[in-house]
Amino acid sequence: MSAAASRLVLPADALPRGRAYGLLLALVAPRPIGWITSRSADGVLNLAPFSFFNGVCGDPPTISVAVARREDGSRKDTARNALASGEFVVHLVERGHLDDVVASSWSFPPSVGEVERLGLETAPGACLATPGLAAPRARMECRLVGHHEVGNGPVDLLLGEVVAFHVAPELLDERGRVRATELEQVGRLGGWWYAPVVERWELPPPREAPGPAPDRAP
Ligand SMILES: Cc1cc2nc3c(=O)[nH]c(=O)nc-3n(C[C@H](O)[C@H](O)[C@H](O)COP(=O)(O)O)c2cc1C
Repeated sequence: MSAAASRLVLPADALPRGRAYGLLLALVAPRPIGWITSRSADGVLNLAPFSFFNGVCGDPPTISVAVARREDGSRKDTARNALASGEFVVHLVERGHLDDVVASSWSFPPSVGEVERLGLETAPGACLATPGLAAPRARMECRLVGHHEVGNGPVDLLLGEVVAFHVAPELLDERGRVRATELEQVGRLGGWWYAPVVERWELPPPREAPGPAPDRAP
């Protein structure tokens, strides 16, 4: 039997509710974790992690984060604050932050600021009003440039243009590039599993088209 024929086919619309989400979580992994501060109209500084997070465009630098709704259909604080203020700050999650990251995912009411509750130190924004966290070695101040409601939740898909990068100097080489070997990112896997980056190697793309040369092809 070929490898392809031995795969189980699971049509998504026949799966029980929640199962497709579980498969997506486990298969689209490891995912970077965006640890996001946002400020409410009342000035409460909110903090929560999101792993449906990624870069989508380099010019201008733009990221996406997908914020699901709560079970009662209401918006999570991060989405509500970002939509009201037009900004948010995304912090890069390294290994040492993971306990605080998970603690900040607790569903506090909007009047409770996770940053204060967890006793985390803040750092002022350079371009935007929303403060960030002092400890993470990299953060991105983002201006909201897009919002799409996706799916049946619906999920609030936020697009943020990065207006300022904050990077600890030891992460940068002499040409201002991030040293891949210095960052200790942690990715989220399926369920409640996480994975640090423990091994890295550099592999530039090929200089010539791979496969048989045209004059040698059958
Ligand atoms: C590592 C991690 C990743 C998460 N990723 C997401 C995500 O991508 N989207 C989402 O809606 N919730 C995600 N959550 C759950 C939210 O963090 C949680 O619902 C939180 O209470 C939202 O807070 P807020 O209401 O202050 O925005 C994640 C939780 C953890 C621990």
